[in-house]
Amino acid sequence: MSTRVRGGKYVVHGGAVLRGRVVISGAKNHALAAMCAALLTNEDVILENVPDISDVDSLSALLVSLGAEVGRLPNGALRLNCRNVSMFEAPTELISENRASFQVMGPLLARHGYAASAPPGGDVIGQRPIDVHLSGFEEMGASVTRDGERFVARAPHGLHGTRVFMDYPSVSGTQNVMMAATLAKGRTTIVNAATEPEVQELALLMNAMGARIHGLGSQMLEIDGVDALHGTTSRIMPDRIETGTFAIAAVMTGGDLVIEDAPAGVLDALLNKLRGAGASITEDGDRLRVWREGPIRSISFQALPYPGLATDLHAPMAALLTQATGVSIIHERVFDNRMLYVSELRKMGAEIVSTGSSAIVSGPTPLHGTRVRALDVRAGAAVLLAALVAQGTTIIDDVYHLDRGYERLTEKLHGLGVEVERN
Ligand code: UD1
Repeated sequence: MSTRVRGGKYVVHGGAVLRGRVVISGAKNHALAAMCAALLTNEDVILENVPDISDVDSLSALLVSLGAEVGRLPNGALRLNCRNVSMFEAPTELISENRASFQVMGPLLARHGYAASAPPGGDVIGQRPIDVHLSGFEEMGASVTRDGERFVARAPHGLHGTRVFMDYPSVSGTQNVMMAATLAKGRTTIVNAATEPEVQELALLMNAMGARIHGLGSQMLEIDGVDALHGTTSRIMPDRIETGTFAIAAVMTGGDLVIEDAPAGVLDALLNKLRGAGASITEDGDRLRVWREGPIRSISFQALPYPGLATDLHAPMAALLTQATGVSIIHERVFDNRMLYVSELRKMGAEIVSTGSSAIVSGPTPLHGTRVRALDVRAGAAVLLAALVAQGTTIIDDVYHLDRGYERLTEKLHGLGVEVERN
């Protein structure tokens, strides 16, 4: 696995018009959850199409610290084997690397009756509580206590099925409780479950491992616990946020991109909004063609749970709208602090103001190259998109955030005609 360091910068030469073909990588949020699910069995779980991104590296390190074997196979797939897992406490320095790490809790608790972890890390995008994870475990019979900074969950006699109501349809909360429920005694019903495609894909993976999860894609999941799960081989779905980022880049630069391996069928909100903004889009199976000839039109949108427009596309969409004619209004409905990108886009000349969880973008404004920071993975994508159309050179600091979620990003951009160097 590649080693990545904090910091890092991109030097981006503006004025690019993206043309060509780009192949989408495996989905970060599906891969991370699927890796945690490997803790549920003694047998090999082989995951194909796992992206080579730093969030996968840090979760791999965490699983290895618990006793798992994790390694790439010659065909690029990730092989995980958790038969020797004997540590049930996630080391704090590894848990703080990304949000998905907390999803080791559900499988460890279900299989070993004990799990401990500090609260998870990840992007600084507002309060990111874990109450629905913990109350789900408690409702299934676990005791959860606080020991310093760590949460300790115990279920020495195993978990039992029950009705779990999620106060909020949390993606990782649903995944965590769902994983725990696969090995609980009896039926667990998760009410107000998240319906994100990555949740559905995790359920499909676990069903392939012998779990009995019903109601996939609905807000009510029913899970009949089984005694044990077995290994499987499964393919990680393509990343819908990476797809969105490249599609937005095509529209923003007036380019013409063929996007291969796009996750057909889960992009309605994005494609609808991009068409509204003036994009031409054709869909042919898992191939999208996205281009723009006329001006970019202002649009308004809300970032919502699936099937609404993904909050992870909020900042990239805002970058696009700096180039739209008119006023666009954005409402963030998922996180309470997704606005980190606003200050950085303003440094580049954008007319954008934010109040609370809303932003108002006026355009089109010519952007100019300057020095900006990638403040989180998606805020980083927003400044990168802005840099593509800026006059002159933009230096983006802290691009290690982009490494968390975008595989081989500079290589892909080079292939589409972008002048970008990393140093
Ligand atoms: C996941 C994704 C992230 C995406 C987000 C929303 C992973 C690793 N990350 O994050 O990329 O932006 O879904 O699609 O899959 N909440 C609670 N209580 C909880 C948990 C969450 O109130 O116990 C609230 C949060 O404050 C937030 C909202 O739920 O307002 C969404 O959070 P959640 O769905 O949990 O996001 P993550 O799973 O962390």
